[in-house]
Amino acid sequence: MEIARIFGGRELCGEVSVSGAKNAALPILAACLLTDEPCILENIPNLSDIRLMISILRNVGASVEYMDTHTLKVCAEDVTSRASYEAVKKMRASVCLMGAFLGRTGHSTVSLPGGCVIGQRPIDLHIKGFKKLGCAVAMHNGYLEVNGERMVGTRIFLGGRYGSTVTGTANVLMAALGASGTTIIESAACEPEITDLCLFLRKQGALITGIGTNTLTVEGGCKLHGCRHRIIGDRIEAGTFICAALMTRGRIAIRGNTPNISSAVYDKFEEIGASVRELDDGTILVDGTKQDLRPTEVITLPYPGFPTDLQAQFCALLSCIDGISIVSERIYPSRFMHVPELNRMGANIMLEESHAIIHGSSSRQLAGAQLMASDLRASAALYLAGLCAKNETLIQRIYHLDRGYEHFEGKLRSLGASIERIKEADAEPDGGNP
Ligand code: EPU
Repeated sequence: MEIARIFGGRELCGEVSVSGAKNAALPILAACLLTDEPCILENIPNLSDIRLMISILRNVGASVEYMDTHTLKVCAEDVTSRASYEAVKKMRASVCLMGAFLGRTGHSTVSLPGGCVIGQRPIDLHIKGFKKLGCAVAMHNGYLEVNGERMVGTRIFLGGRYGSTVTGTANVLMAALGASGTTIIESAACEPEITDLCLFLRKQGALITGIGTNTLTVEGGCKLHGCRHRIIGDRIEAGTFICAALMTRGRIAIRGNTPNISSAVYDKFEEIGASVRELDDGTILVDGTKQDLRPTEVITLPYPGFPTDLQAQFCALLSCIDGISIVSERIYPSRFMHVPELNRMGANIMLEESHAIIHGSSSRQLAGAQLMASDLRASAALYLAGLCAKNETLIQRIYHLDRGYEHFEGKLRSLGASIERIKEADAEPDGGNP
């Protein structure tokens, strides 16, 4: 097993490009099943979750070929509408196959993924949407069987106790393409990744209006065709690099993020006094060299609110800023597995229900430690802490990071970080600087 070794304390400087957004690419890959014609997807990130989705698509009968390292050609001439436990157990996002199967064939049998470390992740809203469309839904041996032979468009309210649902919106939208008549989805998610899916579906020939808003209207029954589409840049990866530059007091330019970061995130950077600027071409300039940063309060919310997927990275950043910051998680109330690990590095964060109370300090430098990554964004937070900590940080279970950050160590190295992957057996903690 590989682990990450970081020698912290180096300013990050230079230019870095973000990859395509994982959370846009996954549902769009599933949506390729909606047509029997080839779809070409550009800017596909090279990630383990993407490789899993490709193997699932092949498993259900689609042909998937790489045209170059980031361009895929998917052709689903003939597909089944069943995804096995073996195929889907490693990735929750595989639930978005359900909508694609329903839209294409009127049937879906998909094994439900198991538990998730970031909290409960029910799919009751997806099921509500399918039922509203007239589907019969049943659970058999861990498989959700949905019969949508007679789906009819209707008005569906898709809001839940935590607001809208991203994958639920993708699923109901794709299923509604196979219904007769018009479907109106209210309280739809409007994350940029859903907008990207809608734009892809539109290129396939779907009639969708309200794109980018909380009300999506979709006409069922259109014959979809092949198309070419470029996946948007990853706003969470961009946000992670911004935090990295600020935490290491560096100065970087971030390219490739088509302007997707919400104002809620830029507002937080402004509130803490950070110099973060987006140019007209989408390049983000971050200057962490002359800073006197202030604490703040962060509340995660559905888009355009502050994203839960940047919460862990912000906890790491706010730990290095003098004063008390409060981070409240409104999407996944228990998504704080990074906190005990950050505290082991000398951070002072108290958890109270779904709030993290951070007693930050700019003078008390975090100290390197042996750490355990628990999920994708927690891993990113630990990398950030390691980059600004003194001495050596060793992070285990970094396969979590590979789900969502392409070539992360290489990109950080190009900015001047001292970071490498080593075999676990080769790790000698406190080995000093190389
Ligand atoms: N929820 C329900 N019922 C449902 C569906 C969701 O109660 O039927 C709740 C969830 O438990 C959660 C909230 O609603 O409290 C939002 O969940 P959502 O369905 O929006 O999440 P998701 O679609 O499963 C996507 C991303 C996550 C990201 C969330 C929130 C993908 C593949 N995953 O998950 O990304 O955190 O939206 O923005 O798009 C990550 O990239 O690290 C990641 C976890």
